[in-house]
Amino acid sequence: MDLAGRVILVTGASSGIGAAVARGLVQRGATVAASARRGALLETLGAASTHVADLSDPADALTLADAVLARHGRVDVLVNNAGVRVDGSVAEVGLEDLDRAFQVNALSPFVLAGRLVPGMAERGEGVVASVVAPQVSPGRRGMGAYAASKAALESFTQTLRQEVGGGRGVAVFAFDPGWVRTDLAPDGPGDPAEAAERLIGHLAAARSRRDIAS
Ligand SMILES: NC(=O)c1ccc[n+]([C@@H]2O[C@H](COP(=O)([O-])OP(=O)(O)OC[C@H]3O[C@@H](n4cnc5c(N)ncnc54)[C@H](OP(=O)(O)O)[C@@H]3O)[C@@H](O)[C@H]2O)c1
Repeated sequence: MDLAGRVILVTGASSGIGAAVARGLVQRGATVAASARRGALLETLGAASTHVADLSDPADALTLADAVLARHGRVDVLVNNAGVRVDGSVAEVGLEDLDRAFQVNALSPFVLAGRLVPGMAERGEGVVASVVAPQVSPGRRGMGAYAASKAALESFTQTLRQEVGGGRGVAVFAFDPGWVRTDLAPDGPGDPAEAAERLIGHLAAARSRRDIAS
């Protein structure tokens, strides 16, 4: 898919991988709709539109999808990148943190895809990418909420792929950025810009031969 002129919604675009993805897409001439809670950071990206949304509330996710559709008329590519890390053992993690992890990492991406994919399927083209964490999603000591919510994200992404992928023209894939140095993973050895370029390459290819692209 030629990304120039495509309407691309990037969630979690205020920092880390999402900010690098948004910048890279702007450079390629895409019409980027950038979203996160920290609106001031979104203004630095050169995006076509910015949308402040708190994805810990799936109602905000629906409002976000509708706002981008109202502004640009369609969404060609959805990058479900926003994520929150919640640490703590299963015994320690509080209900509020557990709820936030699942809302941001799994339920809001689900809601966004559910709202935006029908238009893609109708037009016979589109891409949905979910930024996953397969190193931790099978389970990781002290990171149970994050791991389980990322496993849910992987699961629904594969379901979506079965429902609208392949012959129907919508490419759906999970993207593994690797261990990347960001606010979420300050010790990560990887470079967010390099991970973003890999993801953009998969978006441009509009397909992935593997279930989880890296
Ligand atoms: N870094 C790694 O090694 C690594 C590895 C595997 C997967 N990932 C995934 O990569 C994605 C990007 O993370 P990152 O590493 O780039 O970390 P990051 O810099 O902390 O980025 C996280 C993004 O998510 C947004 N976000 C968090 N809570 C939100 C909320 N309630 N509502 C809306 N947006 C929210 C943040 O924006 P605001 O705070 O402005 O809302 C921020 O833009 C995440 O899904 C993460 O799980 C990262």
